[in-house]
Formats: sequence, structure tokens, C-alpha cells
Amino acid sequence: MDRTVSCLVSLALVLLTTAALAAPPPAVTPALLAQGKALYEKQCAVCHGTEGKGNGPAADFLFPKPRDFTSGVFKLRSTPLGEPPTDADLFRTLTRGLPGSAMPGFAFLSETERWALVAYVKQLASIKVPPEEVVAIPPETPATLASIERGRKIYFEAGCDQCHGPEGRGDGPQAKELEDDWGTPIFPANLPLARFKGGGTPQDLYRTLATGVDGTPMPAVEGLPPEQIWDLVHYVRYLTGGKIVKQPDGTAMLEAKRLQGPLPAQPLDPRWETVPATTIPLMDLWQFPDKPLEAVTVRAAHDGASLVLLLTWKDYSAAPDALRHQDFADGAAVQWSLTPEPPHFTMGEPGHPVNIWFWRYDFQRDLAEHQDLEHVYPGMAVDWYPYQRAKAGVVGPTGRAGSHVYHRLGGRQPDVPGLSPQCGAGPQRYALWLPHGAAAVPAGCLRNGHLGRRRVAGGLSPQPAHRGQKRHAAHPWHHGASGVCHL
Ligand code: HEC
Ligand code: HEC
Repeated sequence: MDRTVSCLVSLALVLLTTAALAAPPPAVTPALLAQGKALYEKQCAVCHGTEGKGNGPAADFLFPKPRDFTSGVFKLRSTPLGEPPTDADLFRTLTRGLPGSAMPGFAFLSETERWALVAYVKQLASIKVPPEEVVAIPPETPATLASIERGRKIYFEAGCDQCHGPEGRGDGPQAKELEDDWGTPIFPANLPLARFKGGGTPQDLYRTLATGVDGTPMPAVEGLPPEQIWDLVHYVRYLTGGKIVKQPDGTAMLEAKRLQGPLPAQPLDPRWETVPATTIPLMDLWQFPDKPLEAVTVRAAHDGASLVLLLTWKDYSAAPDALRHQDFADGAAVQWSLTPEPPHFTMGEPGHPVNIWFWRYDFQRDLAEHQDLEHVYPGMAVDWYPYQRAKAGVVGPTGRAGSHVYHRLGGRQPDVPGLSPQCGAGPQRYALWLPHGAAAVPAGCLRNGHLGRRRVAGGLSPQPAHRGQKRHAAHPWHHGASGVCHL
């Protein structure tokens, strides 16, 4: 079943891309640019920002970050490394999206609309002249076992394993040290997952290997004749089992089946077996390379009056609670448009409200037994601060609760009995939690949990939060400010 679905999907993708590129692009007129601008503001600005600087309101919550078009750096090109993409490259990117990131596909927009967006993105990126050189993709060589074996050898000789690991799972010795051009950590692709930003057909992979992924440590292969690049492509395809994961692009259709009798009330009800399943690949808002979330399978059934949904996904670990600021509990949400024309998928827009059904693992577990702070953090004492003298009989926070408190106080492991509550024992480091965008509060030293203002020699130097830093979606706080208090 799975295999049939993925074959159909890849077939559809190939047809879509060839058909899409066959029609000549419309001429770039002021009217087309105006159409592109309006579409951009509706569909793209929430992530990429109105001026294309990659700083839309959603950008803080995403990793990898939306592209800053004004930087002029594009990952996916048929042009040499460092060159801007062609119009066809941008059209392909836009149609297909970038699997493994929050960038969806926009195949639901008409071709003219997508070309209008290409023209507008080029304007934001100041791409004025067409690229001089396009890397040619020579005819594919046969994907024989011998070619795959040669590809495997080249994979190690060329050092691909240093980043991608011996089995291509993105866990090579250099994997954890990589950064992109924007100073954000970046992980080598987990090749067997088949989430290729530049597309997963043999021709797509050839293009990606021959031109590299600009702005990232992923190099373009150099000094290899085309047959050997094809050998590498065949080896990468072998690692994926020939699978290609398609990014959601707004064209998937979910069919709800009418059932006779009462609707299933349990996930294991055998009648679910009779309901057709639709698999939707998941876009990562945050990449956790060791816990890739791949897809969710959705089944829908109704009896003419009520609708039930069954969502199934493979989870590598249960995330049971969200009591700490930086945690997210496992959950799933279904969004319904309340207007016939669906709004933007990021929770609607003015005039187009949405309804959201939200399931959370911790809420459901609470129905059986309510889990409060003291259940999750045994030994937690309210109002306990590491720089206070240990009071007889007061147990400090342990385990995760302990690391939470130390983290907030700047990572210092407090030696509780030795620390003075008078803030006098030399430099002390602390970090403050500031509302997003707020100015730093006046410098001071920590006394009994308050900022004292006496005898302050050191200043508070607010540092911008790291670009890749995780922030909580529900509360726009960050802990970017830190300071040293000298007395
Ligand atoms: C939900 C957020 C989101 C929305 C909406 C979105 N993008 Fe993106 N976009 C991203 C992210 C994230 C990346 C970077 C992914 C990466 O680097 O792996 C990206 C990358 C891109 C790139 C760069 C590709 C490259 O070669 O480097 C282009 C072009 C682009 N988006 C265009 C658009 C356009 C046009 C729209 C609207 C039609 C749009 N995006 C809507 C999140 C979004
Ligand atoms: C220095 C580290 C490094 C080396 C060496 C390296 N890669 Fe990568 N590779 C990366 C990173 C990082 C990415 C992810 C880029 C991204 O997500 O934007 C990547 C992505 C990829 C992708 C996915 C592209 C896509 O469309 O999403 C493929 C395929 C790939 N690499 C194959 C190779 C092969 C084959 C080699 C050897 C010739 C190689 N890589 C060498 C770091 C490396």
C-alpha cells in the first residue's frame, strides 16, 4: 500500500513538474509584479517578512529559518555555486516547497500566480540579469548494481560520510558542528528519509550534487566526470529505497467515508480498517535530527451527522508534559476553515476565521490522573533559589527542575551552602528573561530574587538571542540578556 502511494506521488510530481515547465512563463509586466506582490503579502510575508528579509512574525518559531531574499543566497539552483537561481529554479522551488522545513509547496496556486511570485521574489532579491551559466544534466546512466557499488565507494572517497555518516543518516563525525551562512546550526540530510529540498528524482539529485547547496556546508562535487556523479546519485537513491517524500502543497484531498451504525469511538476499532487512509508528510518547524517526524496518516468517517478522525503517526519518544517553558507536549491539531475559501494555513487571517480541534497527550493523561508540578518535579520547593542559604529541611529542586533553575540563572551550578545571599562573593552571573523586544532593565545584583540597585560596578549587556535558539510558541520571551555583577 505504502509503495503504491509513493509511486503515485512521485509520478504525479514528475508530471506536475514537466507540465509546469512546459508552458512559457508570462512576460514580466507591472501588472504581473503587482499580482506577485499581493500574493506574496498574503502567502509568504508571514514567514519571509514584507521586505523579504526572512523576518516575518512566524520566523522566530522556525528552524531552519525562512530565507532572507535580500541576502541573495539561494540553496537550490541549476547555476554554479554562488550564482543566483534561474526563473525555472525558483518556479520549481515554489511549486514543490522544501521538504524537511516549514516551507510548503504552492502547487495549489495557478501557474501564472506562481510566475508572478517568481518575478516578485526576484525583485526583492535584486536579481536583475539572467544567470550566465546553467549546469547541464547529461543523460542518466543505467542504475545497475555495479553503478550503485561504484557510487558507494565514491561516497566514502569524496568524504560524504564525514557529514552524512556511513549509512547516510546524517550522523557523521562533523554532523554536530556545522553552521550555515546565517550562523544557524544545520544538520546534514538524513538520506534514507528521502526528504530532498531540491527534489528526489535522479535528475534533481544530479543537479543538487553538481551545484551544491549554497549557504550551507554541503559542497558541490568537484572533479568528478558525469558518469561518477550518476553513480553517486544511484547510491543515494539506493539509500532511500527509491522513495521520494513530497512536501504538502495544498492539493491533497481527504475523503471521509460514510459508515453505517455508531461511529468508531476507539482507535483500535476494526471498522477503521475499512476507511481509506491519506498520508500527509510532516513539515518540521524545528529539526530534531535524532527524532525525525515523518508523516501522519489520516482517516475520516461520518454518519451524515457527525465526523470522526483517526490520526496515526510513528513517535520515537513520548513528550508527556509542557510544564517547563522550553517543552512542548505531544499534540495534534486539526484546523477547519469557517469560510468557503480556505484562509492561509497558519491559523487563518482577518475575515477568515478558523476552528481548531486540539488534542494534547498531557491533557488526556490528566483525565486519568492530574499531573501537577510536584508530580513531574518531585522534591520541588516553591520559592527556592539556589543563591539562598539552604534552610534546614528545605529540599532543593532535583533532576529536570534543578537544571531548569540553573539554566535561568545563567548556567551556574550553585554551591548552595557557600553562596551568600548578600550578593558579595565576587562576580555572579545571571540571565534575565525579558519580554521579546523589551529593553534591558537597569543593571544590578540579585538579592533574594530581586534586582538590588546598590553599589553596581558592572553593566548589563544585552546580547541578541542566538538565531537558532528555541523559543516557546505561546509566550514571546527570550533569555538573550545576561550580565555580570561585580562588587
Ligand atoms: C511557513 C513558513 C513559510 C511560508 C509561508 C513560505 N516560506 Fe519560503 N521558506 C521557508 C523556509 C523555512 C525556508 C528555508 C528552508 C531551508 O533553508 O531549508 C524557505 C525558503 C524559501 C526560498 C529559498 C529557496 C532556496 O533556494 O534557497 C524561496 C525562494 C521561498 N522560500 C519562497 C517562498 C514564497 C514565494 C512563498 C509564498 C508563496 C513562501 N516562500 C512561503 C518558510 C516559508
Ligand atoms: C561538510 C559537510 C557535508 C559534506 C562533506 C557533504 N554534505 Fe551533503 N549535506 C550537508 C548538509 C549540511 C546538508 C543539508 C543542507 C540543507 O538542509 O540545507 C546536505 C544535504 C545533502 C543532500 C540533500 C539535498 C537536498 O536536496 O535536500 C544530499 C543528497 C547530499 N547532501 C549528498 C551528499 C553527498 C553525495 C556528498 C558527498 C559527495 C555530500 N552530501 C557531502 C553537508 C555535507
